[in-house]
Amino acid sequence: MYSNDFIIKIDSLNKSFGKIKALDNLNLEIKRGELLGIIGPNGAGKTTAIRITSCILQPDSGNVLVDDMSIHRDQIKIKSMIGYLPEEPNLYERFKARDLLRYFAELYGVPKNRIDDRINELLKLVNMSNRADDRINTFSKGLRQRIGIARALIHDPKIIIFDEPTMGLDPATAHNIREFIRGLKGEKTIILCTHYMDEADSLCDRVAILNQGKIIDMGTPEYLKSKIHGDIILELKVENPNNIDANLIKDFDSVEDVYIKGNLFIISLKSKNDIKSIINVFNNDILSVNTKEPTLEDVFIHTIK
Ligand SMILES: Nc1ncnc2c1ncn2[C@@H]1O[C@H](COP(=O)(O)OP(=O)(O)OP(=O)(O)O)[C@@H](O)[C@H]1O
Ligand SMILES: [Mg+2]
Repeated sequence: MYSNDFIIKIDSLNKSFGKIKALDNLNLEIKRGELLGIIGPNGAGKTTAIRITSCILQPDSGNVLVDDMSIHRDQIKIKSMIGYLPEEPNLYERFKARDLLRYFAELYGVPKNRIDDRINELLKLVNMSNRADDRINTFSKGLRQRIGIARALIHDPKIIIFDEPTMGLDPATAHNIREFIRGLKGEKTIILCTHYMDEADSLCDRVAILNQGKIIDMGTPEYLKSKIHGDIILELKVENPNNIDANLIKDFDSVEDVYIKGNLFIISLKSKNDIKSIINVFNNDILSVNTKEPTLEDVFIHTIK
């Protein structure tokens, strides 16, 4: 692969806030036209990494190259290439939606004769044409998010960085936004930070798992799921998890791993051979039994622990 195939190269980034090391020598490369997901627990450093990439925050050391331009030298050019939807978009509350978009269009140098059309296109895209002349402070969270997305896209950036775009949205709005992101695939390079594993699985070409400021695994959703030992996940809901010794389950040959989430035992199996015997260990304590293929959530829990 030519180095030019990577539009973003995050190189040995370090960033601390007081004693907290938010990024610990982070390296990550993002291909042109790729939709890369970043997942990881709260405080893993996802937002810090993308704020540095978007030239909003300076690292302590290391570099990010965006289309071979450096965050240390070419902030203005990089900012013009990136559309960034922050975790909590800071929208000017007293502006009307349309005026807010116009303000940012002018700030980002959208040609004057294109501004009105661009605003109308985007309002339509995020389904907000009918609220264009309402003030931001009259919008609900989801409506603000939609305007935040329109704002991020106003200058038709090559690269779009979404920090939890569907957090706190109703299922229908979240669905619309996911489908919208899916529609941008290929045309734009996209980074998507999310806590929704289904979202990462269904949208992303590759997913990076960040923990304590480092990438601990990365690959296509299929690759990450295939790395979970075991082909089958057995989920047993029990009345009282404290009554059961997890070591008894780990002793079965087919059992790869066991983890407990509330009153759910999640058991990775490499074959179905011992399912009956495992169920017997639980006596009559079982409330429900479910088998499934590994999901990205299983990968997350497995990798992070
Ligand atoms: N401005 C700041 N001042 C002090 N500490 C900060 C600041 N920004 C981030 N941190 C700390 O750096 C670490 C990484 O934070 P970051 O926001 O990057 O995590 P995240 O992966 O985006 O988490 P979340 O999933 O909760 O959004 C956390 O411990 C956080 O508290
Ligand atoms: Mg964050």
